[in-house]
Amino acid sequence: MEQINLEDLNEIENKLYEEAYNVRENAYAPYSGFKVGAALVTDTGKIFSGCNVESVDLTLTTHAEMNAIDSMIAAGEKKIKEIIIVMVSDVGYGMPCGLCRQKILEFALKDTVIIGINLKEDGSILNINKTSISEVLPFAFGPEVLQD
Ligand code: THU
Ligand code: ZN
Repeated sequence: MEQINLEDLNEIENKLYEEAYNVRENAYAPYSGFKVGAALVTDTGKIFSGCNVESVDLTLTTHAEMNAIDSMIAAGEKKIKEIIIVMVSDVGYGMPCGLCRQKILEFALKDTVIIGINLKEDGSILNINKTSISEVLPFAFGPEVLQD
């Protein structure tokens, strides 16, 4: 994982950041108060975004990454080239949770890029971290395990 700057983002990454930032505003998180936005680009260059959606049944939560991935699948796309996640957090990085890492892996390319953008409360950027699915989910239980 490496820390990068806003200027290091390429054109597509900037677009993903914008989409993830904007969709995060629509997150439905009345129970945790923790809003997350995600945006991904497929191997074919299509962009999909999603936010977290909570429920009064506290186990019934869709994570932002899952929401973006489900939209990708509904549109007939299958491979995530890169995914950006935006949240307000003051830990050193803002990365997908374990469940989301597993879900990203399901549709990952050889090494899908993951960028976590931590915002401050005022919406400005605290830090940006760049990594890959193999780095955040090593020794993974991937789709190949069930293929013969
Ligand atoms: N959340 C996400 O949307 N993505 C993650 O990978 C981490 C957690 C959401 C779920 C819940 O609505 C809130 O953040 C607090 O856990
Ligand atoms: Zn998650």
